[in-house]
Amino acid sequence: MKALITGITGQDGAYLSELLLSHGYEVHGIVRRSSSFNTARIDNLISTHTKDNMLQLHYSDLLDSSSITNLINNVQPDEVYNLGAQSHVAVSFQNPILTTQLGTLGSITILEAIRHLDKDVKFYQASSSEMFGGSSKDMLNENSVFDAKSPYGASKVFAHEITKIYRESYNVFGVNGILFNHESPLRGETFVTRKISKAVGRIAAGIQSKLTLGNLDASRDWGYAKDYVKGMWLMMQHNQAEDWVLATGTSKTVREFAEEAFKLVNLNMEDYVITSEKYLRPNEVDYLLGDSSKARNILNWKPEVGFKELVKIMVEFDINEAKKDVALLNDNLISPTWEYPVVK
Ligand code: NAP
Ligand code: GDD
Repeated sequence: MKALITGITGQDGAYLSELLLSHGYEVHGIVRRSSSFNTARIDNLISTHTKDNMLQLHYSDLLDSSSITNLINNVQPDEVYNLGAQSHVAVSFQNPILTTQLGTLGSITILEAIRHLDKDVKFYQASSSEMFGGSSKDMLNENSVFDAKSPYGASKVFAHEITKIYRESYNVFGVNGILFNHESPLRGETFVTRKISKAVGRIAAGIQSKLTLGNLDASRDWGYAKDYVKGMWLMMQHNQAEDWVLATGTSKTVREFAEEAFKLVNLNMEDYVITSEKYLRPNEVDYLLGDSSKARNILNWKPEVGFKELVKIMVEFDINEAKKDVALLNDNLISPTWEYPVVK
């Protein structure tokens, strides 16, 4: 089996590649050319799996339709996982056009290429709980109404709908995985869970004094990314293409996540967390809670890692990272304070 992954250098791309390689797939991934290396999350896979060509990387970009189409024609994959995106909701308010171009053009380019290929190719679209908007405390499932609150959410609604349209109009095997928030030590450092676990590690190591956050009352259904990529793969092995929700069924606030993380290093979050308006969004998704009974019953999928274990996995990882930072600091190789200057 051959798979092509857009977004292979991201959190989910890295875990999904690992999973597919373990199932014997030949994995192809697209990477963006950048002025510095952006493959840190998959460097371990590159060193093990590129020698025998089981992992092959190609320079491309979701906005470069012709290169994506050529790649699909050349690779002739059995499965395409479209994970590439500008995935930060707050940044999507700052870069709305780029976020929308990526979210919309990427999916339709791949669907068009697949439709014209003389081969049955399965397509996975990374849909998101962000599409629901989160204004009520209802449990959300595959039939819940979309009410996107950000340019990012709106672009995901387009990709979701166009996948369904290609499924219904052209019989393309197009799967929408509506995934609720999922986290891990590979999570980008400006998403709130990783921002917290990283700060906790650094505060415990004595190299950071405060953590500045935005809305502490927002609530999310947080699961573990490794569990969720298994769900993606299971969706693609089902006998027909459908929409599926993956979620834990538990929603916790940002405050609860921070409290749990600080507790693990015997500190009280109130002594370290301050809030700033600069991390508030023009429009907020207040509450997300998912009902994944369809995937649990039909795909036999379930999240293995619960909330407390997730926080522990992330904090323990970042305690070790902070120890490495201490060593670099001692050699004057990094700066003593850490906070992204621009990104929310
Ligand atoms: P991520 O860590 O932010 O990774 C995003 C990936 O997209 C990276 O590989 C990035 O490449 C790539 N990318 C960005 N711009 C691109 C472009 N112009 N062309 C090609 N690739 C581009 O996101 P993630 O957490 O793994 O999420 C994977 C997918 O699931 C995303 O579509 C996200 O929106 C969606 N999703 C995520 C969650 C979640 O909680 N994690 C929940 C629901 C849906 P670089 O490394 O070069 O930046
Ligand atoms: N990033 C961030 N930084 N968020 C903060 C902060 C902060 O300092 N302080 C509070 N928050 C709040 C945000 O306002 C939001 O309500 C919540 O924490 C979660 O924010 P993120 O971790 O940035 O994730 P997200 O829920 O907006 O988006 C993620 O999940 C979506 C699925 O629902 C991303 O992974 C999306 O790509 C994904 O689709």
